[in-house]
Amino acid sequence: MEFNFVGKKALVTGGGSGLGRECALLFAKGGADVLIADLKPERCEAVANEVRALGRNAIAYAIDVTDYNQVEAMYKKIVEEWGTVDFVVNSAGVCLTEDLTAQSVNDIDLSIDVNIKGTIYSCREALAIMRPKKYGKIVNMSSIAAKACLGGFSVYSATKAAVLAATASLGREAALDNVTVNCICPGIIKTSMWEEILDQLAGDDQAERDKVWAEWTAGTPNGKPQDPIDIANMVAFLCTEEARYITSQNIGVDGGYTF
Ligand SMILES: NC(=O)c1ccc[n+]([C@@H]2O[C@H](COP(=O)([O-])OP(=O)(O)OC[C@H]3O[C@@H](n4cnc5c(N)ncnc54)[C@H](O)[C@@H]3O)[C@@H](O)[C@H]2O)c1
Repeated sequence: MEFNFVGKKALVTGGGSGLGRECALLFAKGGADVLIADLKPERCEAVANEVRALGRNAIAYAIDVTDYNQVEAMYKKIVEEWGTVDFVVNSAGVCLTEDLTAQSVNDIDLSIDVNIKGTIYSCREALAIMRPKKYGKIVNMSSIAAKACLGGFSVYSATKAAVLAATASLGREAALDNVTVNCICPGIIKTSMWEEILDQLAGDDQAERDKVWAEWTAGTPNGKPQDPIDIANMVAFLCTEEARYITSQNIGVDGGYTF
């Protein structure tokens, strides 16, 4: 799909990898400038360079989204540099799987801090800019895990259900200000997050990793592998004027895995 985002300013958390990276590149292909925010500075730089190679401006912004002060400072930076922010994608996330009794309190807290607090902090700052100017598009990353609540994923599922609920509420809060807030529930996509999930579920043995991956993806009704671009296309569509009437929604892009 081709999108026209000329003149738009986008901010993508988790933009250094996987789904966030793909969103950043699709924004840039459409003509937007993009701030790439990620915990890992080298990932920010690499994706910012990919955006620049597409002829757009990029800011590589290393950040821990669990720290409110850092999130506030990031939005100050984009306003200082580019005057505003039009699109925000909150894709920073962690998926730490374990039966709850075996899961460390540290992992529980980290999941909640990154997936819930990080998303809400970013939405708070984004809305403070978008609502007064009566324009903006926010897309959060929830997950099929918010709906298909499998064993071993209790904390992750809870965090993603929280993203879904916060999105629905925020969309209504901002509706009269011409700001849309939606979330996507992606299916199963082989990003660095899934490599880390396979570390947890299957360890180092490649045959075991392939087996676990095949078992997981076998549950996808359309039987096709999913790519980051499938998510980026929906994110980009939600940022068009054609999608102006869509807000507060959670949209499954998962080959029919959930409904
Ligand atoms: N890949 C999938 O199958 C899948 C499925 C459903 C939902 N999701 C969700 O989509 C989002 C993106 O996932 P992905 O697959 O691209 O993962 P990914 O690991 O490739 O990318 C996530 C990025 O978030 C960054 N990040 C982690 N903690 C951070 C923090 N505290 N501050 C700033 N950045 C931080 C990581 O450094 C990483 O670059 C996540 O929220 C994930 O839960 C992914």
